[in-house]
Amino acid sequence: MQPVLAFDVYGTLIDTQGVVDELERRLKTPSSAQEFSRRWREKQLEYSFRFGLMGAYVDFAECTHKALLFTDRAMQAGLSENDCDHLMSVYAELPAFSEVGAALSQLKAAGVRCVAFSNGTEEAVGGLLSKAGLTGYMDDLVSVDTIKRFKPDPAVYAYLRTRLEARPEHTWLVSSNAFDVIGAKHAGLKSAWVRRRSDAPFDPWGIEPDMTVTDLEAFAQRLLDT
Ligand code: LAC
Repeated sequence: MQPVLAFDVYGTLIDTQGVVDELERRLKTPSSAQEFSRRWREKQLEYSFRFGLMGAYVDFAECTHKALLFTDRAMQAGLSENDCDHLMSVYAELPAFSEVGAALSQLKAAGVRCVAFSNGTEEAVGGLLSKAGLTGYMDDLVSVDTIKRFKPDPAVYAYLRTRLEARPEHTWLVSSNAFDVIGAKHAGLKSAWVRRRSDAPFDPWGIEPDMTVTDLEAFAQRLLDT
């Protein structure tokens, strides 16, 4: 039985650090762009967790926007409304990691079913995939926005299974986000952790990924070899 692959989007297919150049142009202290980008991303995820726990869902772009405003305050970066609007439009067109197209093409050629599975809305993720030239590799796009919950709520992985109509032991979540990998494992799915940075730690919860790879080409290789 062929596995079905659900790819996380932000941080796995799409590089959230792709906003650093624009930050360098707009920050008073351009050398803080990397740190700003990292803190913005962390706050975006924190906001999704908190809105989820409060039962007060807002869409992921709203989390991203509020996190941008917070990071600006926290780092006293002095961004204008115009700067923030520009940064949000760059975020809507972030690039894919360089190996993603080749890896998905290999999987597609082998007949493996691939879907995008994200906190982002269908519109936001559809736009990113289209801009990155990846739409053709995806059989479907599953957004948590339909059920108004965020990862790692077990409801989103249950929803993914409903949409895929695949058995859990054949359903893989492929993600660079450890919290997503653990969420999927907790919900009974298989999971591969894409450890894009060699110093990235995994949470010591006693829940381990079924596979750890450095990027998606390595993942495609391992999956197709087994
Ligand atoms: C996503 C976030 C978690 O794409 O990266 O779902």
